Amino acid sequence: MSKIIVNDQRQRGKISKYLYGQFAEHLGRCIYEGLWVGEDSSIPNVNGIRSDVVAALKDIKVPVLRWPGGCFADTYHWQDGIGPRETRKKIVNTNWGGVVENNHFGTHEFFELVKQLGTEAYINGNVGSGTVQEMSDWVEYMTFDGISPMADLRAKNGHEAPWDVKFFGVGNESWGCGGNMRPEYYSDLYRQYQTFVRNYNNDKPIYKIASGPNIDDYHWMDVLMRNAAPLMDGISLHHYALASEWEDKRPALGFPENEWFSLIKSAQKMDELISKHSTIMDKYDPEKRVGLIVDEWGSWLAVEPGTNPGFLYQQNTIRDAMIAAITLHIFQKHADRVQMANIAQMVNVLQAMILTDGDKMIKTPTYYVFKMFVDHQDATALDTLDDLAATTSASVSKSANGYLVSLCNYSLDAADEISLEFDRPVTALTGEILQGATMDQHNDFTTPDAVHTVAFSAATHQAHTVTATIPPMSVVTLHVQA
Ligand code: AHR
Repeated sequence: MSKIIVNDQRQRGKISKYLYGQFAEHLGRCIYEGLWVGEDSSIPNVNGIRSDVVAALKDIKVPVLRWPGGCFADTYHWQDGIGPRETRKKIVNTNWGGVVENNHFGTHEFFELVKQLGTEAYINGNVGSGTVQEMSDWVEYMTFDGISPMADLRAKNGHEAPWDVKFFGVGNESWGCGGNMRPEYYSDLYRQYQTFVRNYNNDKPIYKIASGPNIDDYHWMDVLMRNAAPLMDGISLHHYALASEWEDKRPALGFPENEWFSLIKSAQKMDELISKHSTIMDKYDPEKRVGLIVDEWGSWLAVEPGTNPGFLYQQNTIRDAMIAAITLHIFQKHADRVQMANIAQMVNVLQAMILTDGDKMIKTPTYYVFKMFVDHQDATALDTLDDLAATTSASVSKSANGYLVSLCNYSLDAADEISLEFDRPVTALTGEILQGATMDQHNDFTTPDAVHTVAFSAATHQAHTVTATIPPMSVVTLHVQA
């Protein structure tokens, strides 16, 4: 039994649409095959970008896309990825499988993808192996509208007008793959590099993000905030859900019951991490000007048997849908501090929205959660009074479309009877459900629709109250007019 009391006066503030952000790295089959197939491919594409994937992603209203990494970002030299494709440098992707990276997908192709998705750009710059000049030139190349060496080069390469770079990351995981730095050293580098991330368009200043801590490295957060808070708009945090230890990645399919719960417990740690990091940030930034940017999150499981271990290709089940719903609820609860989040990753890597196999494409259970939650984007989070069952997670927002109530029952066998009380009469109610028949139910290329949303009929309303029976292993959204 769960009870939720909704009172319009109790508002938490706006849920930034950027909490629903995505991440696409040069890793495995995310960029190549997943997004980019090239203009000559037999897979239908527009300017080299596959049309089926773009069409599916447009339905989840991707608000922002982070690129080119991840660890890849600190090995990426952007000049390798411009100019005629046939002459671009072929490099080794040293982080991810040691495969050849032909640089066919570079800055111009990324902004073509941004345009086709109708999204905004989050570029992650290279601190680990790149120079200040290189980073500064990239920003000039992308955003300067006028006569300059980099703007001229962009025009020569076919794009006269500058692009908008909404967010810019100064390094990635600088404590690890981004250079194995100590926070004292990185904070000085951050101060230096960000100086040359120039704002060429004062109407659209670039939101600068420092490379933040790994999971619960509170020392890193403290040093960075102490040394550089006034020079940043955001600081990143990475936390992946694991079913066991980091060294012991557990299977995505055919897992035992205890791993259903251990993965969920690991995802729920996000709540504690945000609270504790935010408390440290409060010491230096009590007004909460600096955003916590959770630009990598999601489940990290064993790769599909027979696939390249460096490609991080994993299946995605109804358990991942639970992880997505629970984590998005946590972000909404902390919407005053968390200004952006980017699930890892958008296609074919880790907790993906989309999986492809050649010309075939499937939508994962995680995709459906993002679609069901679209109306939370930029809505007002309501601070409800909750008495929830131990295995229920919930969040309520209000927008011009009415109230959106999202619910997740991660019990394996018990339905939850929920009553929602509004402070005004309920006039209309519709719902959707995503439900698993088994713990690891998923979509694959032979049964692409095993898990998908259907209309939800187990909810009724009377006067100020909505009651609903939420089945086990399900995510339910209710659109309520009151
Ligand atoms: O998302 C995969 C990798 O995880 C990223 O490249 C890196 O930043 C993190 O360790």
